[in-house]
Amino acid sequence: MKKILITGGAGFIGYHLSKRLAAEGHDLAIADNFFRSRHDNDFAALLANPNVKLIEADLTKPESWDTIGAGYDEVYHLVGINGTKYFYEIPHEVLRIGVSTTMNALEWFRSTNNKPDAKILYTSSNEAYASGFDLGTVPIPTPEQVPLVIADTYNPRWSYGGQKLIGELFFIHYAKAYNFRMSIVRPHNFSGPRAGYEHVIPEIVGRIAAQTEPFPIFGADDTRSFCYIDDAAEAIQRVMESKTTDGGTYHIGTSDETVIEDLIHTIFDLMQWHPKQIETKNSPAGSVKRRLADVSKIKKDTGWEAKTTLREGLQKTIDWYRKNPKPKK
Ligand SMILES: NC(=O)c1ccc[n+]([C@@H]2O[C@H](COP(=O)([O-])OP(=O)(O)OC[C@H]3O[C@@H](n4cnc5c(N)ncnc54)[C@H](O)[C@@H]3O)[C@@H](O)[C@H]2O)c1
Repeated sequence: MKKILITGGAGFIGYHLSKRLAAEGHDLAIADNFFRSRHDNDFAALLANPNVKLIEADLTKPESWDTIGAGYDEVYHLVGINGTKYFYEIPHEVLRIGVSTTMNALEWFRSTNNKPDAKILYTSSNEAYASGFDLGTVPIPTPEQVPLVIADTYNPRWSYGGQKLIGELFFIHYAKAYNFRMSIVRPHNFSGPRAGYEHVIPEIVGRIAAQTEPFPIFGADDTRSFCYIDDAAEAIQRVMESKTTDGGTYHIGTSDETVIEDLIHTIFDLMQWHPKQIETKNSPAGSVKRRLADVSKIKKDTGWEAKTTLREGLQKTIDWYRKNPKPKK
């Protein structure tokens, strides 16, 4: 049994990862301030485990880390402001919260860590290199060593990618300076239950449930690769638990490139409702045309590859969102 901390553990990835680790019997602490996540029934069921505890704390404040204690074997540093609308509405907060929580996490870890084998993992993002699409520096599929760039510092969208780039630098150089174990992962379009309501799949499910006519499809010929959250949580755990991955950066995603229009037609089929009229619209400004991670490195070093098919993952996601429709304000 290990002592594990998950920062941002009430959020989408954190919840699924916590469920997985709690089921293995580890002693789990979840630190979150519910900026984005909700204390819903799923989360209450997770907290009903005697080996799981919640620490409500704003991790931007250095003193809040005193409440977290010490002696952890593994720290999953997931906290951050996810959700594209925030990148445009509060880019200064995306930067402040992303950078300060990461600096605090590393300062806390290096000064309190008393186990030589303890490890800390950082969740970066594909957004750390995404503005390179504008510069033509991003091959498809995209390997880990692609340059991390901010094409336009005045475009608020890159506040998120920028703080992830800074976070990666902090992790690499703190680990070298203070000689501790760490890995970086870059999630690529994780999907599944409890992902919030602003992601592409829950938005489409919501519009289908409301039988929206005419039915808008934004960026119909854009592509993405969707990785189901159970597979994703397993991948993150494997990177944490491996010694081969120490000091390395890993893309997590699938090799299946899905055209958005095909994705939406699959959801129509699974929900057994088809609109009479479809209106195709341009993708939102700044949206990247194609995204596909090269996931050969994680497979080589940990043996992990995604198991859930797109259809299986969509079915489970739809079932959850049907039972948990967007709460009315
Ligand atoms: N979901 C994806 O596909 C994806 C893709 C790329 C990167 N990531 C990264 O992975 C991590 C987890 O993503 P997620 O999808 O679970 O996001 P999420 O928003 O669901 O979870 C983040 C959690 O951090 C918490 N938080 C925010 N500010 C805080 C603060 N000051 N103190 C304490 N807690 C705070 C939020 O309340 C939330 O529960 C994030 O760093 C995100 O940037 C996710």
